[in-house]
Amino acid sequence: MNRVRIYIPGDAAAVSVGADEVAAAMLAAARRETLDVEIVRNGSRGLHWLEPMVEVETPKGRIAYGPAEVSDAAAVLKAAAGGGGPHVLRLGLVDEIPYFRNQTRLTFARCGVVDPRSFDDYRAHDGTKGLTRALTMTQAAIIEDVTLSGLRGRGGAGFPTGIKWKTVADTPADQKYIVCNADEGDSGTFADRMIMEGDPFVLVEGMTIAAIAVGATQGYIYIRSEYPHAVAVMNDAIAAAKRAGMLGKSIAGSTHAFDLEVRVGAGAYVCGEETSLLDSLEGKRGVVRAKPPLPAHKGLFGKPTVINNVLSLATVPIILDKGGAFYRDFGTGKSRGTMPIQLAGNIKYPGLYETAFGVTLGELVDEIGGGTASGRPVRAVQVGGPLGAYFPRSLFHLPFDYEAFAKADGLIGHGGVVVFDDTVDMAKQARFAMEFCAIESCGKCTPCRVGSTRGVEVIDRIIHDDNRAGNLALLEDLCHTMKFGSLCALGGFTPYPVMSALTHFPEDFGAPRLQAAE
Ligand SMILES: Cc1cc2nc3c(=O)[nH]c(=O)nc-3n(C[C@H](O)[C@H](O)[C@H](O)COP(=O)(O)O)c2cc1C
Ligand code: SF4
Repeated sequence: MNRVRIYIPGDAAAVSVGADEVAAAMLAAARRETLDVEIVRNGSRGLHWLEPMVEVETPKGRIAYGPAEVSDAAAVLKAAAGGGGPHVLRLGLVDEIPYFRNQTRLTFARCGVVDPRSFDDYRAHDGTKGLTRALTMTQAAIIEDVTLSGLRGRGGAGFPTGIKWKTVADTPADQKYIVCNADEGDSGTFADRMIMEGDPFVLVEGMTIAAIAVGATQGYIYIRSEYPHAVAVMNDAIAAAKRAGMLGKSIAGSTHAFDLEVRVGAGAYVCGEETSLLDSLEGKRGVVRAKPPLPAHKGLFGKPTVINNVLSLATVPIILDKGGAFYRDFGTGKSRGTMPIQLAGNIKYPGLYETAFGVTLGELVDEIGGGTASGRPVRAVQVGGPLGAYFPRSLFHLPFDYEAFAKADGLIGHGGVVVFDDTVDMAKQARFAMEFCAIESCGKCTPCRVGSTRGVEVIDRIIHDDNRAGNLALLEDLCHTMKFGSLCALGGFTPYPVMSALTHFPEDFGAPRLQAAE
């Protein structure tokens, strides 16, 4: 009998629901049954309600079983080793599972497919193709292709990546840096972690291409401390890339030099903001810097710096491989390409869903996500992390598109969608948003530092029916001051969740139900 290859995710989400134990139990069962089995710890496919999802390689493709428990391990192994045979947990071919089949996986093309610890496996699945092409191009041509692709920053602000790179390329300096923002602080988001744990070489490749494009020789990946698995996988990937000659003094035999190191954050939401991240990288307390100067002109240690989100950088290799025109063919309006959307909160099918921009909020929540996990009606969704707006069902027609969301006083942010059912108290959510800002504020500017604390007090008075009308007006006024007077988006965007809760769910603040909230 041929060796059977079985995949069990080593991704933190799968591990948190028992993947390590299932893997150990399967290995023990294989030994008992003297089956020739190889267990590969892959990344997660992002179908989180099915984790741990075990896959077996067959001539027809990979067949999945899940969610597997230790008590299922021996029987699942037997069925899997028998060519993907029947078992009550059998899900069929992975590629045919509707949640997976209907996605457009460009950034996540390899996640869950490859062995994240194997550079050879990465190469065997189209890895390094983008870099190989980039090495044949001029710096200007690489930047032109990234600009043509329409790629916008996936960290939150949606700034065009090509323009950022051009600014750094055009700034003369003896030293330039590439910094990857892997702080991933937004509620309900996990795409950065999944890529780092499931396809780490794509990030190494994307950063290397960025370095070649702008003339940088040193890069840092700033990872939040809550991601120890990602830190370990990235460190291994960097070491393997160095051994393979993909990093170091001569990238793939070229005249370009680039080195990469991981740095671990200490757990402040504001350290995801690019300038305070740079302060933190320099060993200082993470405090937001006033702009200008832009990091592209004076960033890390005062040198021109590209700072991009994990997803932005991890999307670069496929753009360089297939060309900017290929990537920009997906999407809608000024939102080109695909977005790895993260479905979280009270949702039946939580997970990672990569699709072209333009899918509606309703499709995401009701159809793809299957509604709430509790079975109760969906009442609100918060998109874009703790600074994103709360949207009611009446806005479910909104397409996932930077401009459409901005027009509705919301933001796409890092693509996190957090779902709430009809038991949610939106006044409490508004209070939570203000309190979050008060706790995480770096303290540099007054509207945020003082405003958020006063904001919590004002919302408390509204909740306790203390001069409600007067305090509602005060809250609106305070939000206006924070929005237009804060130095960065922490204080500047906190009014989005607060005011959207108030606008769309006024009944939770003691007002009669508005027509618009229906
Ligand atoms: C309070 C705050 C927190 C942020 N957190 C993150 C984060 O965790 N990850 C991230 O990539 N960007 C974060 N950003 C956005 C960054 O400042 C910056 O826009 C981004 O790293 C640029 O990369 P991009 O152009 O690839 O999106 C945050 C911004 C603010 C204001
Ligand atoms: S808005 Fe808040 S987090 Fe941003 S600079 Fe001002 S005090 Fe710091």
